[in-house]
Amino acid sequence: MKSLKKISLALSSILLCAALPANAEHQVSLTINTDQQGAQINKNIYGQFVEHLGRGIYEGIWVGNNSDIPNTNGFRNDVVTALKELKVPLMRWPGGCFADEYHWRDGIGDPAKRPTKVNTHWGGVEENNEFGTHEFFQLAEMVGSETYVNGNLGTGTPREMAEWLEYMTSDKNSTLANERRKNGRDKPFKVDYFAIGNEAWGCGGHMRPAYYADLYMHWATFLKAPKGHTPKFIASGGSGNVRGLEWTDVLSKNITRNMDAISYHYYTLPTNKWDVKGKAIGFPESEWNSTIVNTLKIDEFIAQNLEVLEKNDPKGKIGFYVDEWGTWYDAEPGREPGFLYQQNTIRDAVVAAANFNIFHHYAERVRMTNIAQMVNVLQAMILTDKEKMLLTPTYYAYQMYIPFQDSTHLTVDINQMDYEKVGEDKFPAVSVSAAKGQDGKTYLALVNLSATESSEVKVDLKGQTANSAQGQQLTANTLDAHNTFNKPNQVKPKAYKIKAKSGKFSFDLPARSVTVVKLD
Ligand code: AHR
Repeated sequence: MKSLKKISLALSSILLCAALPANAEHQVSLTINTDQQGAQINKNIYGQFVEHLGRGIYEGIWVGNNSDIPNTNGFRNDVVTALKELKVPLMRWPGGCFADEYHWRDGIGDPAKRPTKVNTHWGGVEENNEFGTHEFFQLAEMVGSETYVNGNLGTGTPREMAEWLEYMTSDKNSTLANERRKNGRDKPFKVDYFAIGNEAWGCGGHMRPAYYADLYMHWATFLKAPKGHTPKFIASGGSGNVRGLEWTDVLSKNITRNMDAISYHYYTLPTNKWDVKGKAIGFPESEWNSTIVNTLKIDEFIAQNLEVLEKNDPKGKIGFYVDEWGTWYDAEPGREPGFLYQQNTIRDAVVAAANFNIFHHYAERVRMTNIAQMVNVLQAMILTDKEKMLLTPTYYAYQMYIPFQDSTHLTVDINQMDYEKVGEDKFPAVSVSAAKGQDGKTYLALVNLSATESSEVKVDLKGQTANSAQGQQLTANTLDAHNTFNKPNQVKPKAYKIKAKSGKFSFDLPARSVTVVKLD
């Protein structure tokens, strides 16, 4: 905390910080600095993570050619269509912890001849390797996403990793490139990002950061791709505050070549305890509040890590990629605990949007993030049950924020009081972000973080004129409102439009809501 004064937090624009009595209505005023354009908000901040875990891939995305579930070449039509509509910019695969036990040769060639392995991390289930390298790139191409492949450092070899990259990217007449051609892919796959290991401090090998840094330098030396096709290379960093800072520091000091970014993980647990994390639905209001408090901690964690990077890499070459984040709740009773399936409520949508606003603030180095995970796992966009599919509140939060992809960040000065309900659970009533979209228009996102209280937000555009604010609002009647397979449209955004009065806007934000508008 001692360095806090020096660092600029996304929420530091709060000018007034005093506790209000419960049930007070919140008055917030803000100015969008339309004349001060900041960093580009890289579209890959809206990236997704897809791991061989539970029903995240099998059933969730891949059902195979012979399935009764409508599919194209084995990929579910309903899920692929929903992902395309979401404009998913990037997908990370095959893990996670799974990545450090994944041997790429198991997932190429005739599917009938691929070996069956045991997924030791996630439920001890059989992994028949039907979904492999070719299927991953087909999926990304169908959806229109960039690709992020996570290599196996934990149980692989430098040779295995180097050969995988050659197999995917070579345009030569080499035996490996020809094997790819024989397996049905003539031109090289486009690998946009490649990581060396995952969570090396934990499931990836329980290493010290200095040891990992040495391994990274060694292995990265042999990762070669044709000119113009070299992916951005990512070193697997830390998580949380303590471990995160040490890893960021050691890696940025000791990895002196072939590293474009350091990754970072942070999960939001309502209780902040891994043994009893808190429920996905049917939770008390106190857990709404603690979830918000815990998710907003990422703001300070990112700020502290970036401070370390500023010191070790003042030219800003090294990106800071939050390649795993999101809510993590207790497993639903009766479900396989290793599958990490959880329901997704309006609370998750609010958490997602609050995180987007924080990522925008640090967009200069936070050029990519991947929510965990895309389908059926943790804070998912999509849930499936055999042939049924539903879109979660988190899906809609991502959809509402599409105009922020590749936009330009605008700073906002906010004047608001903290919302305080119980004890230490204190957080600002409203989280805000603004940007100049690719269409040249100003976009504003307003998230009412409160479980129960509404806010009125007055917006000044600092001289810029706009007559209307038009977009969508997502809210719900209960704290744990969610979509089910029988009632898939319970939580869905509605059109929202207000007019300016004397050049200023006044937004009424219901409790637990996300509002994204274009100011025109
Ligand atoms: O997303 C689930 C798991 O969380 C990932 O496999 C791992 O990297 C992290 O601990």
